[in-house]
Amino acid sequence: MKKLFIKTHGCQMNFYDSEKMVDLLKPHGYQIDENPEDADIIVINTCHIREKAVEKTYSELGRIRDQVNLRKEKTGKKSIVAVAGCVAQAQGKEIMKRSPWVDIVVGPQSYQNLPELIAKVDPLTKNNHINIEFPTVPKFDHLKSIVTERGPSAFLTIQEGCDKFCAFCVVPYTRGAEYSRPIKSILDEAKELIDNGVKEITLLGQNVNAWHAEWTDKNVWGLGRLIKELSKIKELEFIRYTTSHPLDMDLELIEAHRDVSKLMPYLHLPIQSGSDNILRSMNRKHTVKEYIKVIEKVRHYNPNIALSGDFIVGFPGETDKDHQATLDLIKEIKYSQAYSFKYSIRPGTPAAISLNQVDESYKKSRLEEVQNILRDQQFAFNKQSINSTLKILVLKNGKKSNQYLGRSQYNQSVYFNCNEKNIIGSTVDINVTQAFQNSLTGNIINI
Ligand code: 5AD
Ligand code: SF4
Repeated sequence: MKKLFIKTHGCQMNFYDSEKMVDLLKPHGYQIDENPEDADIIVINTCHIREKAVEKTYSELGRIRDQVNLRKEKTGKKSIVAVAGCVAQAQGKEIMKRSPWVDIVVGPQSYQNLPELIAKVDPLTKNNHINIEFPTVPKFDHLKSIVTERGPSAFLTIQEGCDKFCAFCVVPYTRGAEYSRPIKSILDEAKELIDNGVKEITLLGQNVNAWHAEWTDKNVWGLGRLIKELSKIKELEFIRYTTSHPLDMDLELIEAHRDVSKLMPYLHLPIQSGSDNILRSMNRKHTVKEYIKVIEKVRHYNPNIALSGDFIVGFPGETDKDHQATLDLIKEIKYSQAYSFKYSIRPGTPAAISLNQVDESYKKSRLEEVQNILRDQQFAFNKQSINSTLKILVLKNGKKSNQYLGRSQYNQSVYFNCNEKNIIGSTVDINVTQAFQNSLTGNIINI
């Protein structure tokens, strides 16, 4: 077997793509290895969403150059280095220029060609290969029927790309136009995952709730309908989806949160800002009021739902008043947990050329304020679970002996002790005894 080291940055879609790359390379004799110094091929799956993520790629590539050189000196063997993901898509030529030890650059829509690209690399001559096309035959057509091992919880990408063009965001450029995967291909992959022991599926898409596709009877399904269909698979116990857009929360999906018990009561619904002025400059195409209305409707259908979101502080033109409106909105909604970021200039996006860029010191203090409230809300939410019994899917061993880690229906990490072996993949009832900022602990009631 040859050794494959793969490092993934960024979102869950990248983690899904990395799993698929492993699936793809396995039949070619590659097996995952944790050690880059020893690897025959090193893949970095990169993220372009903020500048910091891009910097990570280049500093990682520096470390990889040293590891590759060391291996060559020691063993005479040259590792193949491949850069995949959104930085590859956006900066393919620049990567080759800045890091000439990279052999392959492959974009998120063309990594199905990785085995052929690897076969083309000649370890002796310097012949780089770039493939950052958006192929006419979608990559999913090439990826079917090759699921290898997964844990109890797996990702399943059903939608990719974005047509919404928020003024700050690179996704429409790196992941391309909105694409919905056909129903059959999704159901086939879901069944394959289940056959591999998967109990929980998280449906993925940059705009996952924009997913729609035609069934054989010409009826068009939305995400709610798809979730209902998936819930009929007996061995599938938990269904999740992310990331949603407020404009695409249709009634069928909201109803699924009432009617489908396998659908977890958790919704990641970013708004980005609590100010209508900023939402307009961001080209979000909805107001704060419309967002709140969606949340109210979701809560009406399932009062139990936990809410998550994304916020950007310091978007060009953001005033103290706009920022205050974001703080007010967060206080009004009460998130179980949410992500927040300083606005990061992304070359090629409309907001990048705005003359009203916000000073770094404001971004820093505003982010702190947002995060302080979100942190308090998350801790308060976690504390509500104390003394309750939660149904938990056991995901893996914890760091301590006899300790396990599972996930609650609200997406909380739950730690507990158990002397039984082999309970990973089981569903257990946990009585929660303690709540922390980012996790819960409890006692197992039954297996
Ligand atoms: N700067 C900061 N945050 C960004 N995001 C997307 N683009 C940017 C940017 N240019 C955030 C948004 C999005 C999440 C995935 O990343 O909040 O929802
Ligand atoms: Fe980016 Fe906006 Fe599309 Fe989300 S909806 S991926 S933030 S452009």
